[in-house]
Amino acid sequence: MLSLATLGSLAVCSLAGLAQAYDNDAMRSKAVYQVLTDRFATSDGSTTQPCDVSAMSYCGGTYKGLAGKLDYIKGMGFDVIWISPIVSNIGGNTSLGESYHGYWTQDIYSLNEAFGSEADLKDLISQAKAKDMGIMVDVVVNHVAATASGNFIPNDSYGPFNSTAQYHPFCWVDDYNNQTNVEQCSLGNTDVTLQDLDTEDPNVVQIFNSWIKGLIADYGFEAIRIDTVKHVRKDFWPAFVDAAGVYAVGEVLDGYPPYVAAYQKQSMDSVFNYPVYFPLKAAFNSTSGNMSALSEMVTTLTTTFDDTTMLGNFLDNHDNSRFEATVNDKMLIMNAATFPFVSDGIPYVYYGQEQGFTGGEIDYENREAMWLSNFNTETDMYKHFGKLNTARSVMGQAQPSFYTTKASIADSTDSEIAISKPPMLSVLSNRGAGSGSNTMKLNNLAYDANTQLLDVIGCKTYSTNGDKSLDVTVQDGAPQVFVPASLNQDNKICSSTATGSSSGGDSKSAGFVDAKIPVVAGAMTVLAGLFLTMF
Ligand SMILES: *[C@@H]1O[C@H](CO)[C@@H](O)[C@H](O)[C@H]1NC(C)=O
Ligand SMILES: *[C@@H]1O[C@H](CO)[C@@H](O)[C@H](O)[C@H]1NC(C)=O
Ligand SMILES: *[C@@H]1O[C@H](CO)[C@@H](O)[C@H](O)[C@H]1NC(C)=O
Ligand SMILES: *[C@@H]1O[C@H](CO)[C@@H](O)[C@H](O)[C@H]1NC(C)=O
Ligand SMILES: *[C@@H]1O[C@H](CO)[C@@H](O)[C@H](O)[C@H]1NC(C)=O
Ligand SMILES: *[C@@H]1O[C@H](CO)[C@@H](O)[C@H](O)[C@H]1NC(C)=O
Repeated sequence: MLSLATLGSLAVCSLAGLAQAYDNDAMRSKAVYQVLTDRFATSDGSTTQPCDVSAMSYCGGTYKGLAGKLDYIKGMGFDVIWISPIVSNIGGNTSLGESYHGYWTQDIYSLNEAFGSEADLKDLISQAKAKDMGIMVDVVVNHVAATASGNFIPNDSYGPFNSTAQYHPFCWVDDYNNQTNVEQCSLGNTDVTLQDLDTEDPNVVQIFNSWIKGLIADYGFEAIRIDTVKHVRKDFWPAFVDAAGVYAVGEVLDGYPPYVAAYQKQSMDSVFNYPVYFPLKAAFNSTSGNMSALSEMVTTLTTTFDDTTMLGNFLDNHDNSRFEATVNDKMLIMNAATFPFVSDGIPYVYYGQEQGFTGGEIDYENREAMWLSNFNTETDMYKHFGKLNTARSVMGQAQPSFYTTKASIADSTDSEIAISKPPMLSVLSNRGAGSGSNTMKLNNLAYDANTQLLDVIGCKTYSTNGDKSLDVTVQDGAPQVFVPASLNQDNKICSSTATGSSSGGDSKSAGFVDAKIPVVAGAMTVLAGLFLTMF
């Protein structure tokens, strides 16, 4: 085992000098790519190593392998990589498989050697820094894992958490309407129990705060992702995040906006945007998906959260079924995948989406070996993410207020949502591939009359009308993301097609009903407690 016990004292002579920790403002301009370390890349770069996801075993991905794929990730414009938890996990096989995902903590003071050595990890971090990329480390504070449920007797193999007094008395999380039960009982099952640490205990608090401080100082991680945030009391977090001293994003797995917003107010500035995740999937999962529920949610978020621009937006992650598990219309997929980039917040993309991984219903099915895709940089989605990231960063450089300007719904129909986030304007549709031409007229936009707009997806230019409106044609269900052509510095957006861009946008309103959906202040569906975070 590699000892991390003396982290605090080592901090001064460590990588800290190189660390370019990201604060909130720095993070706003970033885009995050999530990998499962075990499933991303092999040390020698080979792409044939088999990985049977249903065996739930380690497949052999490493830090060294990931370090060899930084250009692949940067090629899509992502500049932060969220890796799996790094600490040592319980070993052996269980009915839920092995700890390949890294969420079954045993000792926070040791590394999970399956992913490589301490030197390999530090090498990954410094190679990323050299490419102006950052590494976001995943941390678990709520629990450690054990295979001895009920009669768990901690010992030295749990590092600093070797005493029963450091744990809550055993009980299962079984009542999501009871926040004490959620915070002080254990997740998991009798085969793998996530023993709940007593995060009210000042000794436990002190251990965690100095651990995270030392970890950041020693390794120079730019940011952290925090697991199972809602399972720890809200007021534990501010001191922990402060000790980390870097941007922290928390997992509060719940769809009810006020529930999640309370964590932004009381615990940490950034939380994953689960409230929009559910209506986002529902809006694009079929050509009859509910678009008005999504537009209502976008509006609701701006009034519920202190700061929507700090939310972590995603379509897929390791805990949920990939979007493509149930949807195979390429245009529905492309529209849904665009949303996290054009609404308020920081975009997060889960590895493999650019390769068309389809995952499945059960969580292990969504953790395919990336190397089996051969890291193809020619896929439509690889290029699509590149366009979206380029557009965001060019807009942010031209107008830094872009990242903090709140998005609003410019219009919404049964099949379209138009999101205004000046200077960007996006029109997403769930009409699907092969749906022909459908036109709509957008009014009350943030642009002047006769402004040249470039659609960064289709690479065509359009112009607002004399009355400042914009005629939009949704062609075969394709998403459109408009930016003022004048802000396209050095033609960075659509560079490969810049000379070939044509003028379009002539209004053909025949047959299109501009069915503006009134925003109904309806009751939210409480989604609390539907999910049990196991790993
Ligand atoms: C672990 O157990 C699972 C389920 O019982 C089984 O499918 C898998 O092959 C086992 N893995 C190993 C490495 O023994
Ligand atoms: C410590 O706990 C682990 C997990 O419960 C167990 O496998 C191991 O045998 C224990 N070691 C000792 C020395 O009790
Ligand atoms: C528990 O861990 C602490 C800190 O590492 C150590 O000082 C103590 O001796 C350990 N106690 C037991 C019972 O192993
Ligand atoms: C809530 O959960 C705690 C912990 O399990 C339990 O002690 C308490 O009785 C529960 N409260 C209610 C009202 O059920
Ligand atoms: C689409 O989402 C809705 C709402 O979540 C759900 O009821 C429905 O089953 C989903 N349809 C498909 C095809 O996944
Ligand atoms: C769409 O969602 C809205 C808001 O949640 C709801 O009022 C409406 O009934 C839904 N429409 C359909 C067709 O399910």
